[in-house]
Amino acid sequence: MDWLPQLDRCDDLKQLRDICLRCRRCGLRENVRGVVFGEGDPQAKIMFVGEAPGADEDRLGRPFIGAAGQLLDKILAAAGFEREKVYITNIAKCRPPGNRVPKKEEAEACFPYLIRQIELIQPRLLVCLGTLATQYLIYREAKVTVVRGQVFEKGGIKIIPTYHPAALLRDASKKKVVWQDFQQIKKLFDQIG
Ligand code: URA
Repeated sequence: MDWLPQLDRCDDLKQLRDICLRCRRCGLRENVRGVVFGEGDPQAKIMFVGEAPGADEDRLGRPFIGAAGQLLDKILAAAGFEREKVYITNIAKCRPPGNRVPKKEEAEACFPYLIRQIELIQPRLLVCLGTLATQYLIYREAKVTVVRGQVFEKGGIKIIPTYHPAALLRDASKKKVVWQDFQQIKKLFDQIG
């Protein structure tokens, strides 16, 4: 990952968003309506990180508002989280064509923005939704099927991977373990309180 020196000088989320909106570090920006930076409480103690925006997110400029987002909302509410009080973003801030997984060079190009978002928000807990977030935030070869539900720690932040809500839409049998993961996530969240 190459570092972007201008991000060091950027000390609030609004500035970071503005830099992100002007970004042309990969080709994705050419084919999207806009950048989906992320949303939520800028002082959230917990951040959820997905993969990349889909068509609905691209259209409205908000993360997780399509089918997977609606499922995430239900899971959050059932686990006792208010969406407005958490922070939600993605590894890639622009929608890949046809909703494909972001390519390595696209994810790498975007990763410094996520790192700075994390530094500015200073969450105590990071939840990786799916493989891509798990690989970028935990380790590159991680398999979500193997590491989901385990608690990792980096720089004083606890990191928990779980399945992406879109995976639950494809395979409802994963719901049970995701529910267990979210109960554990809520317990940890209450402890850091
Ligand atoms: N899937 C993601 O990973 N992120 C979104 O914002 C929407 C769907």
